[in-house]
Amino acid sequence: MGTKPVLVVHGGAWAIPDEFAERSILGVKNAVKNGFAVLEMGGSSMKAVEIAVRALEDDTVFDAGHGAVLNADGYVELDAIIMNGKTLAAGAVSCIRNISNPVTFACSVLEKTPYVMLTGTGSNQFAEKLGIPQVPVEELVTDHAKAEWEQYRKYKQTVKSLFNTELVHDTVGAVAIDCEGNMACATSTGGITNKMVGRVGDTPVIGSGGYADNLVGAVSATGHGESIMKVTLARLILFHMEQGKTPEEAADSALHYMEKRVHGRGGVIVVSKTGEWTARFTTKRMAWAGIKEGVLMYGLNPGETIQEILKPSK
Ligand code: GLY
Repeated sequence: MGTKPVLVVHGGAWAIPDEFAERSILGVKNAVKNGFAVLEMGGSSMKAVEIAVRALEDDTVFDAGHGAVLNADGYVELDAIIMNGKTLAAGAVSCIRNISNPVTFACSVLEKTPYVMLTGTGSNQFAEKLGIPQVPVEELVTDHAKAEWEQYRKYKQTVKSLFNTELVHDTVGAVAIDCEGNMACATSTGGITNKMVGRVGDTPVIGSGGYADNLVGAVSATGHGESIMKVTLARLILFHMEQGKTPEEAADSALHYMEKRVHGRGGVIVVSKTGEWTARFTTKRMAWAGIKEGVLMYGLNPGETIQEILKPSK
């Protein structure tokens, strides 16, 4: 009781080009404000991360929901997870082609099934049963995603080398602790441009793309999915925190281990059970924003933190 709420979001760790910088900053600031409004009104961390991630999915500058990157056949395949730190219940979906807000669909998997992840035809049937609106597959494809797809189809490099050094879009996410001390995480993605049809990355995999546990903290990860899964990045960070590291030390330690051990880069946002939080990355840039005690912080470049004092809400 009486915990100071915290919400942190990211818009993906990658070499964000200057033309996307301002929109990415605006997008994460908008999402964190939307999600934090839920916490300020006494709402749950689960609702706050869902609302924040929905805002990021609806913003076409990010690789999630509307505007996500395209697979080898030229359409989106979306993955998402949401996890409740109080109960360790998680809901995830993978390879979704025609639902605008996969994070809300993942929430339905958590709330309305005894399962953790749904995929393929079964997930479509479940969406129909719930009355979740299904949109034509073309609706989530933007002109920019098509242009990016055309460009990357020409590259001969592996997805991983592209990811580490070039302009490969990636993933959105949120972590939160609410007034009751309950923690949650949510992560959503279109994955990696020109990925093989049916490829599922780290995002919906519990312990990789996200993890939340009231006893430790909550993490949302972004970066090269195959590398993140190999080191179970989100859970690895919480393990380091269980051993006494701060969120920043734990994040740096796990990200550097991932780079050294499997040559993969990425980024994370982390909040601890005491409300300490951080945003760390090993890619060129990551748009992130966090709110705690009336202060909004955000950044894009390594080492950059910009602070704004928010007007008290009435
Ligand atoms: N991090 C997102 C993916 O690799 O699919």
